[in-house]
Amino acid sequence: MTDHTRIALASRPQGAPTLENFRLETAALRDPGPGEVLVRVLWLSLDPYMRGRMDDVKSYAGKVELGDTMEGGGVGEVVASNSKHYAPGDIVVGRTGWASHAVLSETEMRKVDPELAPISTALGVLGMPGHTAWVGLNDILAAQEGETIVVSAATGAVGSLVGQLAKRKNMKVIGVAGGAEKCAYAVEHLGYEACIDHRSPDLAAELKALTPGGVDCYYENVGGATLEAVLPLMNDFSRIAICGMIAWYSGKGLEDAMRLPKMWRSILVKRMRVQGFIIFDHNDRFAPFAREVGPLVKSGEIHYRESVADGLENAPAAFLELLGGGNFGKQLVKVADKS
Ligand SMILES: NC(=O)c1ccc[n+]([C@@H]2O[C@H](COP(=O)([O-])OP(=O)(O)OC[C@H]3O[C@@H](n4cnc5c(N)ncnc54)[C@H](OP(=O)(O)O)[C@@H]3O)[C@@H](O)[C@H]2O)c1
Repeated sequence: MTDHTRIALASRPQGAPTLENFRLETAALRDPGPGEVLVRVLWLSLDPYMRGRMDDVKSYAGKVELGDTMEGGGVGEVVASNSKHYAPGDIVVGRTGWASHAVLSETEMRKVDPELAPISTALGVLGMPGHTAWVGLNDILAAQEGETIVVSAATGAVGSLVGQLAKRKNMKVIGVAGGAEKCAYAVEHLGYEACIDHRSPDLAAELKALTPGGVDCYYENVGGATLEAVLPLMNDFSRIAICGMIAWYSGKGLEDAMRLPKMWRSILVKRMRVQGFIIFDHNDRFAPFAREVGPLVKSGEIHYRESVADGLENAPAAFLELLGGGNFGKQLVKVADKS
């Protein structure tokens, strides 16, 4: 047994989560069994989906039970191994949870190549969010050269790669993000032709002015006012990839959401294809994603940005920030230095 530090789910949120929903504690961690390794966590990923795991509802994945460690991906170093595939000192990525140490199965982790890029990128541009961006753009939207795409949460972990990959396909790429600083970054560094603040009172009119030929692809990350503004601009036979709807994760704003029949009708009359997707159904597409994007990150052709909170104890506050748009790029927690 090893003692480890962890953040447990102390209570379930009513609406927006608060710091009181989390508890920092020391607990015993079992020893690794056959085929398992003990990992010392160096980086923890914070992701919007974690909000859903805090609720007592059935979804595409199970909830976190009260008192259990908050779920999450992490990068760490192997400190003890009962697997012939992993040795102490290996850097790995897996579902460590919000904790200083984790026991992982060799079947549910992979090695990280520290030569390719900083190891934290295995949680961002070269990890789950990057994979999500690539699959959503290529497989779900089947985005084509010359088409117009709108990307919401345009500078976030997922959106920032969607925008850059769409630009590399010679698409017309329009972003929607929170605030002038993020929008300037989207245009200057991520290849967006233009970017609009989703809090603008003229969001719908501004988006319309920027897309005179209509919208062929919408990469949906947020729902809310952005979806309301984009939907009327969608072309006949256009596509929407529903990746996320963070504006509604805490139940806020649902009463203002567009009326369902209006939305349903526009899908019909425009013969649109609207497809939700969850990245863990697309694990077979990780290798081609990594083959394409890995070298582009290594060469500096793909930009990425990280927001880093220092120390596991600061994970809950950073998570609350993330839900409100306080992150600028991939939200991470630096848990420990490499030994
Ligand atoms: N389907 C899947 O398998 C899958 C996998 C990964 C992620 N996702 C989803 O993809 C989306 C982006 O995830 P991410 O990891 O890349 O997070 P992120 O974009 O790095 O961070 C979340 C961002 O959402 C934006 N946001 C928050 N509240 C908003 C609101 N009310 N209206 C508009 N924007 C709002 C904020 O950006 P601004 O400051 O720009 O508003 C915030 O920075 C999320 O919805 C997530 O759940 C889905």
